[in-house]
Amino acid sequence: MDRAIFRCATARNNAAPTRRWRSALCWLAVPALLLAGCSKKSEQPSKKATLHEVMKDEVDPRGDDVWAVGNKHMTEDAGLNGGSMTDADWKQLAGAATNLQQAALELAGLPDPIVVVKPGTKIAFEDADWGDSAKSVQHNVDQDPQGVRDLANALAQHMADLAAAANKHDAATAGQLINDLDGICESCHVKYWYPSQRGLINSIKKNSGVDPST
Ligand code: HEC
Repeated sequence: MDRAIFRCATARNNAAPTRRWRSALCWLAVPALLLAGCSKKSEQPSKKATLHEVMKDEVDPRGDDVWAVGNKHMTEDAGLNGGSMTDADWKQLAGAATNLQQAALELAGLPDPIVVVKPGTKIAFEDADWGDSAKSVQHNVDQDPQGVRDLANALAQHMADLAAAANKHDAATAGQLINDLDGICESCHVKYWYPSQRGLINSIKKNSGVDPST
């Protein structure tokens, strides 16, 4: 913007008769640019990323990338088989962990107030009888937005630890961190997405000893 104004001022100073139309155009162009700048600003809120977008487009697929390596090299007791991991596999795992870490940091850094979805967007299972609505998720987020950021930061830290373990080719630590990843996702889901199912999860846990949320 400053540069446009500067260029116009120079043109006016040089205003030879044949060039006069140019400076007139400048005066027209500058307010148009100013207006463009203003309208851009006022559009920003609707362009803001939502929690749903970061979740669906970044966190979920990047989580899959981490699990893809873990699943390919799983030992019988669900650990990570260091023996079958090549240098390329370790690199891939470290990269996937770092990518997910970035997505988690994006989630943690969503601007205030955290918006769950753009108007008219539906979240997964919203139309199912038992599904929770975007509206109820928004309500849960509004109750404790800092908790969303804290859990997202916990995921980011978990992925930083995984990337470090992968860089050291430490299969025992990396395997444990991959196994615990599900539980980190679920800790946030059960609080903000489907807290209605917490009771169900607890009763299954009590009756069978199995935690279905991890
Ligand atoms: C800090 C909180 C938080 C963490 C951590 C988190 N999620 Fe989510 N996730 C949510 C919330 C809230 C919803 C419900 C809103 C929605 O569906 O977009 C959700 C929804 C989803 C959905 C459904 C998206 C849709 O189409 O509606 C998927 C898939 C998902 N999460 C995957 C993951 C995976 C995989 C991880 C871990 C690697 C994870 N999430 C970690 C908060 C979190």
